[in-house]
Amino acid sequence: MPLTTQQLIEWKQQGRPLVVLTAWDYAFAQLLDMAGIDIILVGDSLAMVALGHDTTLPVTLDEMLHHAAAVRRGVKRALVVCDLPFLSYQESVSQAIHAAGRVLKETGVQGVKLEGGHPAAVETVARLTDIGIPVMAHVGLTPQSVHRLGYRQQGKTEAEAERILSEAIALSEAGAFAIVLEHIPSQLSRAITAKIPIPTIGIGAGPDCDGQVLVTADLLGLSPKKPPFAKSYVNLREIITEAVGEFAKEVREGQFPES
Ligand code: KIV
Repeated sequence: MPLTTQQLIEWKQQGRPLVVLTAWDYAFAQLLDMAGIDIILVGDSLAMVALGHDTTLPVTLDEMLHHAAAVRRGVKRALVVCDLPFLSYQESVSQAIHAAGRVLKETGVQGVKLEGGHPAAVETVARLTDIGIPVMAHVGLTPQSVHRLGYRQQGKTEAEAERILSEAIALSEAGAFAIVLEHIPSQLSRAITAKIPIPTIGIGAGPDCDGQVLVTADLLGLSPKKPPFAKSYVNLREIITEAVGEFAKEVREGQFPES
C-alpha cells in the first residue's frame, strides 16, 4: 500500500524526517521507489530537466499528465504528487478543481502541488481539500513567478518573513497536507516548522524542516546548471557521456558486437 498523507503528518509528530525527490518518467520513479523515497514529486521542473525549457512556465497540463501517469506506473510504496503547472489553476477555483481532478483521475497519483500563499491560493487549497484532493503547498521562492521574483532567496526582510509565515499558517489551516519551503532563510523555515502541524519540506531552506526535497537531475549530476543550494551526489553526465563514447568507439572500430 502506498504511504498516505495522514501517515506523513503523523511522522512529523514522531520527528521522522521525510525524504522527497522529483521524477519525470517510469524508470527513475521505479529506482527512487526501490531506494525508499517517501514522496515522489512530478515537479513542473520537468519542463527544464526533461523538456529543455528555460523556465517551468511552458509545460502544459497534458504534458504533466503524460509524465505523472508514467511515474505512477513505476511506484509501489511512495506517495506520488504532481505539480499543477502554470495557469492550470490560477484563473479560478473551478479551473483548479478541473485540473486537479484530471490529475487524480487520469494518472492515479495521490495529490497535487500548487504554488503561492496569497488569499486566492489559500481558497483553492481549501476547496480542493474539501472535495478530497490532497494538496501540497509551496511558498518562498515559487519558480512559476520567476518573472516577478527571479530566483533570489525570499523572506530576507522582516516584512517578507512575516508574510511567508502567515501564508504557511493560512495554507496549513486551509487543509494542505504538507508545504514546500523553497530558498528562504533557515531561521524562517525553523519558525514555520515549529508553528504549523503539517510537514515542511525544505529546498534551500536549511536543516530544520521536517523533510528535504531535491530535483533528482541535480542530485544525480544530470543538470547542466544547478541552484546554489542543491547537492550532486554523483556526476551522471560524465558517466553517461563516457559510456556512450565507449559504445561509439567500439562500433566505429568494429569491436561491438563481437563476431
Ligand atoms: O518542480 C519542482 O521540482 C519543485 C521542487 C523544486 C519542489 O517544485
